[in-house]
Amino acid sequence: MERISFKELKRTLAARLKEKKSEHMDFWDEMHKKLEGKTGHLGIKGMNDPVLLAALRSFGDLRGKRVLDIGCGNGLATFFFAKHGAKVVSIDTSEVAIKNIDSLCKVNNIDNVQALIASAQDIDRFGVFDCIFGSMILHHIDPFDPFVKIMRRSLCDGGKAFFCENNASSPLLMWFRKNIVGRFHVPKYSDGKETPFSHDKILSLEKEFQVRVEYPELLMFRLIPVYLFRDRCYLPFAWLDRLFYRLPFLRKYSYVQYIYLSKA
Ligand SMILES: C[S@@+](CC[C@H](N)C(=O)[O-])C[C@H]1O[C@@H](n2cnc3c(N)ncnc32)[C@H](O)[C@@H]1O
Repeated sequence: MERISFKELKRTLAARLKEKKSEHMDFWDEMHKKLEGKTGHLGIKGMNDPVLLAALRSFGDLRGKRVLDIGCGNGLATFFFAKHGAKVVSIDTSEVAIKNIDSLCKVNNIDNVQALIASAQDIDRFGVFDCIFGSMILHHIDPFDPFVKIMRRSLCDGGKAFFCENNASSPLLMWFRKNIVGRFHVPKYSDGKETPFSHDKILSLEKEFQVRVEYPELLMFRLIPVYLFRDRCYLPFAWLDRLFYRLPFLRKYSYVQYIYLSKA
């Protein structure tokens, strides 16, 4: 492959995505506009995020390592890994998200983050990484099987990847999503194209990586106040999630899962 500078690659990929601009990309641009100039995640909140701490435990010492953040959004993970000494490449199809990250880097003199408007299908253009991270991104990637092969090429031998994803395993939650969400004044938080992460995609990952799936908590009853009560009366539902998490057979129906990958 012809070697081009990072700046040139950034321009080429951004121009290519601009041509393909779609409704779901506009949806994320609008979401990220609300976060413009917000720096809360550069502070202590970001450093204590349980998802990021789980990823860090799996990745180990990040000093000097190359980390890729796929679908980086507002950069919570990007800045977390950068603070832990990694050289981070962050990609997102949202132009606004990348602009936000670029300006936060400038204002805060952060020089170990490179952010690009790019699709997950292009990650093998950025060299090989020690670690790959994604939060709520895998279920956006379509087609998935070619991406898994691209990701294998992008991870070094012995490299690790960590993803926090939603989960399509609960028939009840999927029924609710299909028949209730977006109707009867029930809010819809998705971009219309995404579908929750299904078990067949775990099987695709298993063809290329060693895979471990963990359900760190039960996220089920708390969805009731989020969708039906505008986040009110949260505590009793949180208590129910904690209570039912004690039943191991229920855990695989949690709406959140951690996916750990390693490349032998
Ligand atoms: C649910 S948000 C997650 C953002 C962030 N990782 C977080 O956890 O806050 C999904 C993000 O993925 C981006 N995205 C969607 N499809 C993508 C793709 N194929 N390649 C790269 N980014 C994508 C969206 O623009 C959006 O910023």
